[in-house]
Amino acid sequence: MESCARRYPAPHDAARRGAHFVRNNERVNPAAVVVERIGAVVARLYPAAGDDHDSAARPSDRCDAQINIALGLARKVGKSPRDVAQEIIDNLDVRGICSTVEVAGPGFLNLTYEDAHLASLLAAVSHDDSLGVHRAATTQNVVIDYSAPNVAKEMHVGHLRSTVIGDALVRMCERAGHKVVRENHIGDWGTPFGMLIEHLVDLGEVGAARELSVGDLDGFYKQAREKFDSSEQFQERARARVVSLQGGDAETLRLWRLLVAESARYFATVYEKLGVLLTEADLRGESAYNALLSEVVARLKKSSLLTVDDSAEVVFVDGFTNRDNEPLPLIIRKRDGGYNYATSDLACVIDRVERIGATLMLYVVGAPQAQHLSMIEAVATKAGWLAPPAQMVHVAFGSVLGSDKKMLKSRSGQAVKLIELLDEAVERADASIAQKNPELPAAQRRNVARMIGIGAVKYADLANDRVKDYVFDWERMLSFDGNTAPYLQYAHARICSIFRRAQVTRESVRSAKISLVHPNERALALWLLQYDSAFWDSLERYSPHRLCTYLYELSTRYTAFYEHCPVLKADDAATRDSRLHLCDLTARVLSDGLLMLGIESPEQM
Ligand code: ARG
Repeated sequence: MESCARRYPAPHDAARRGAHFVRNNERVNPAAVVVERIGAVVARLYPAAGDDHDSAARPSDRCDAQINIALGLARKVGKSPRDVAQEIIDNLDVRGICSTVEVAGPGFLNLTYEDAHLASLLAAVSHDDSLGVHRAATTQNVVIDYSAPNVAKEMHVGHLRSTVIGDALVRMCERAGHKVVRENHIGDWGTPFGMLIEHLVDLGEVGAARELSVGDLDGFYKQAREKFDSSEQFQERARARVVSLQGGDAETLRLWRLLVAESARYFATVYEKLGVLLTEADLRGESAYNALLSEVVARLKKSSLLTVDDSAEVVFVDGFTNRDNEPLPLIIRKRDGGYNYATSDLACVIDRVERIGATLMLYVVGAPQAQHLSMIEAVATKAGWLAPPAQMVHVAFGSVLGSDKKMLKSRSGQAVKLIELLDEAVERADASIAQKNPELPAAQRRNVARMIGIGAVKYADLANDRVKDYVFDWERMLSFDGNTAPYLQYAHARICSIFRRAQVTRESVRSAKISLVHPNERALALWLLQYDSAFWDSLERYSPHRLCTYLYELSTRYTAFYEHCPVLKADDAATRDSRLHLCDLTARVLSDGLLMLGIESPEQM
């Protein structure tokens, strides 16, 4: 368990982190009102101490929450932390909210909430379709650039990461109330298309389409490459084809469209398997910016940013140097007059800011492209196309590794095809359910296997801090124990089965009064009230793993609750209903949290 995930962030923490979102005060965090009142007391008692205090409330074994503000404050005001803590308590009115606030240890403030305070917040969460997750104070126009495979190339695990992380961010941004535009910046333009089109011509359109439609994209690409490398005549044809393509020759464009359409169809099958929101309507590849490329050059010229370097047109930006410490240019137009990946990314910034009105652009792209994207950002800023409120953020991610800690490869040493990986996940999940629950009818098992297999792959990716590499491990990701999708899905399914056994509908318990007598009931309830904080903490850092950590802790607390607090065999009807209500709320938060990650929650497994 990560220690930071156990924190209750204070409402003003977001600003301190330089978050890109302005958030409302948290409404269902039981600590929020206490933190606010302590802030007011501190401002009154110690006006000279500034307002940059650590007022975050953190969970503790000794009490419901602990606040450490007195420790830092003591240094500033020259008193002992315990004295400062006592002075705060003497001036603090939290009647109806806390039953006790005590000085503990070196000067901690230990809070114990009134049951009524928790019960009313739980009721608010239960009555809210968003389960307490508040909407952003200001709506942003967010463009999320994700997935972005390349035409006539196989999708690999790098695209899995971008697709899965990007899709979770889309869902979370939408939940936060932002306007989201999904953009799949596929690689559908550039010099390789000369050789790809010529190869298509050689195969004949029908033959080529057949080859591409079975999903052997890499085979197609490799054959074209081999011809290009071995035949000078083919090279000539390929070069001439690039010229026709860029010149807008109708027949060439028709052949090019054929290639793109076949790949797009293939991408769509992968997306459907993965269960992500991307559709063909979200395709906006490099070629979409063609018409804007000359505009980029003209604007850069006009603002005198363009220089000629080694007969290429380039922009130099401060702070970027190569290995030999020489200034590193961003190449806008190559010596042969052709444009670059960078040029279309600059056009793309103009398009997103000026046409779409984006205020926030998220680039869910692998870490190796960090320098490329920083240069784009620097040039676009210098040129004045990118200015507040618009900003771009590189949501970078690391690599997927094999058990040898090297880039994940198939047994034959090839890059692993994403689609084969997904099929294998479903097969493995199917086998493990068949073993665990042999009574489940085959058709239902297939469907559950799909949810578990795909969920396991997605979750294993999302549960790791995205900036780090992770090791792809079938056993671990499909395990029903630990921080995995199957563990969370199982906790959810188990709750559904309690309701089936009780023959009680989920909705019917939602107005039952929740009473928190047993410590495990209280621990579960306190964690349910942190969903809003965990959601925002995760979104503000574009870090889905934080939401995973929250959900894992929720399942763990639920398991402990279920072990110690009989539900259907509770002593009296009121306790039973209260506990059923907690069960229902837990299942709702679990499935909602998984939904935010793009993962389904079966009711039975
Ligand atoms: N197609 C590129 C690749 O496979 C990723 C594109 C990312 N988006 C962008 N706007 N550059 O590496």
